[in-house]
Amino acid sequence: MTAQRTHARTQVGIVGAGPAGLMLSHLLSLAGIESVVIETRTREDIEATIRAGILEQGTVDVMVSTGVGNRLLDTGSRHDGIEIRFGGESHRVDLASSAGRSVHLYPQHEVLRDLIAARLAADGDIRFSTSEVSLHGVTGTEPVIHFTDADGRPAELHCDLIAGCDGAQGTAKWSIPDSRRTDHFRAYPHGWFGILAEAPPSSKELIYAHSARGFALISSRTPAVQRMYFQCDPTEDADSWSDNQIWDELQSRVAGSGSPLNEGTIFQRGVIPMRSYVCDPMQHGRLFLAGDAAHTVPPTGAKGLNLAISDAVVLAQALERFFGTGHADLLEGYGRTAAQRVWRAQHFSWWMTSMLHLAPDTGDFDRHRQLAELDQITGSAAGRALLAEGYTGHPIAHTNPRSVVSEALRLTAGRRP
Ligand code: DHB
Repeated sequence: MTAQRTHARTQVGIVGAGPAGLMLSHLLSLAGIESVVIETRTREDIEATIRAGILEQGTVDVMVSTGVGNRLLDTGSRHDGIEIRFGGESHRVDLASSAGRSVHLYPQHEVLRDLIAARLAADGDIRFSTSEVSLHGVTGTEPVIHFTDADGRPAELHCDLIAGCDGAQGTAKWSIPDSRRTDHFRAYPHGWFGILAEAPPSSKELIYAHSARGFALISSRTPAVQRMYFQCDPTEDADSWSDNQIWDELQSRVAGSGSPLNEGTIFQRGVIPMRSYVCDPMQHGRLFLAGDAAHTVPPTGAKGLNLAISDAVVLAQALERFFGTGHADLLEGYGRTAAQRVWRAQHFSWWMTSMLHLAPDTGDFDRHRQLAELDQITGSAAGRALLAEGYTGHPIAHTNPRSVVSEALRLTAGRRP
């Protein structure tokens, strides 16, 4: 006998408890709008998955002003600059003086822990460990999410609108028919070999290195744990490398002037693919995509999480207007507004990737061209400003000045961490 489906109703059904879904649910709750988050992973899995760690100034401002920034301010660290190494020399780009903004190093899973804690403290409804999630009736006025709950019972959630925040592998976007959807896609001929190592930091700021052997990035997680990456073949098997080979590769890529690279015990490794993707449009009927569900960027510059947060901010403003006044104008314009910032970040991530990586067809001419570009970007005030503006993040659109997030940002403006 098939079990009876349980029925529930909410204003906004959110598929996915990643940065976009959780931030959206958090902002909606501050505005008095109900939501339910449906997630297939466990809470433990979400809180333990290691991703990038750079928060743009706008992301920090949103977190701090909406009450989820305390741990970020206590344990994250503000970075006012980055180091670019090329031709064996180290060049610092001062973000604060070049763009008037900074970034914070604070890992993505910590952001998720903060958002989950805030939602649960406010009696928020997050359904972890669900399965068989599917969307129905997204072009009608009452779309429905079908899913199987953590206890194996079939359930339906009826909503006014659905936010598809189910990440790059998610299925929400497939509810936009092929005839209405354009998939803008690019694959890169390299991946990133990423490691976590128990070691002291090598530098107070991140090091992005261009070398004759390819790109490397030296980042950090805590004073005792460092995160490092180097460009590799996308099909590389991380387990086939010895620790010595990994250190030799990293050392050779960051060699030259500047602080030496500290080695330590490698306790996690893996290869990250590099792709760019934008789903066009980002909405269909009453389905609105946000975060990686709508777009993917290559990791260079760490824009993924930041775009998820800015999408959530733009969508929350539109939903607040819709539920507060009945006007759907901002909702109708959501995809267009969000996509403008998404494409700027796409360009930035592609640009940093192309400037710093060697592709199989990168010849001598291209390498000299890259070095000239890096020389110009680090050696002129205009170049540094361009890099710093993109790196610290373009402004997030304020389409609804009366929204809680706009109010909160106004109240905390001038108290920039
Ligand atoms: C990290 C990742 C990035 O892609 C980046 O550009 C900077 C930092 C990180 O994991 O720390």
